[in-house]
Amino acid sequence: MDAHVGMNGLDSFSMRVALAHPSKCRAAMDVIHKFIHLVLPPVIVVTLCLILPFIFTMKLVFSLIMRPSPLSGENMSGKVVLITGGSSGIGEHLAYEYAKGGASLVLIARRENSLREVARKAVGLGSPDVLVVGADVSKVDECKQFVEAAVNHFGRLDHLVCNAGIISFCAFKDVTSIASCTSLMDINFWGSFYPTYFAVPHLKRSKGKIIVNASSSGWMGSPAMTFYGV
Ligand SMILES: NC(=O)c1ccc[n+]([C@@H]2O[C@H](COP(=O)([O-])OP(=O)(O)OC[C@H]3O[C@@H](n4cnc5c(N)ncnc54)[C@H](OP(=O)(O)O)[C@@H]3O)[C@@H](O)[C@H]2O)c1
Repeated sequence: MDAHVGMNGLDSFSMRVALAHPSKCRAAMDVIHKFIHLVLPPVIVVTLCLILPFIFTMKLVFSLIMRPSPLSGENMSGKVVLITGGSSGIGEHLAYEYAKGGASLVLIARRENSLREVARKAVGLGSPDVLVVGADVSKVDECKQFVEAAVNHFGRLDHLVCNAGIISFCAFKDVTSIASCTSLMDINFWGSFYPTYFAVPHLKRSKGKIIVNASSSGWMGSPAMTFYGV
């Protein structure tokens, strides 16, 4: 058996079938897309409705009877958390949750004014100190600088939260200039890779954690999210 694997991952037999029966392949892709768009969302919602009450009940029980536990979370008091994309959305609210737990924060994003506002609220919620650094995560030098600024300011780093990202709706077939798509990869992929690379030595010292905010689009492909899902 000599199954040669082609560029798109199909072996030579599958490619011969695809080339010989393009209409059958299109029909199969239509069925897959219909499944992803019509069947999966309600299945996910129903599954979450069934699972979440159980998880929240377990969390409540564990938080009441044993503290700290793997389910009640880590004691963040005195720890330092760096969050990329802390100026709005999920990153902003993660900052508030860490602040309530007593963590010091390093907030990264391009909009410094918004970061300062988040920092003010985070201090109000219990964070002892918040460092704000305006930076672009797609630029390697800026990532190096903000990790260094965090460690110089606080002397340690316990959690790195790679959250900065942008969304894009674009089908591969509609791309007219491939160069226009690289900024998404620079932010969503390299923008997590660079800070991780510079933070790892400090996280090893503190036995810290790396938290990456990813999307279900990464495993559940969608035609209009070709690049975002990568
Ligand atoms: N919302 C969802 O349903 C969802 C679902 C799954 C995953 N996610 C992921 O969760 C993350 C946050 O999403 P969100 O909904 O909270 O979006 P959002 O409100 O638009 O927040 C994105 C954050 O990333 C920052 N950011 C964007 N580009 C940046 C860059 N080049 N350098 C530094 N910071 C940058 C933005 O700050 P500045 O503009 O100030 O730079 C902002 O703080 C994203 O990675 C997204 O892919 C979101």
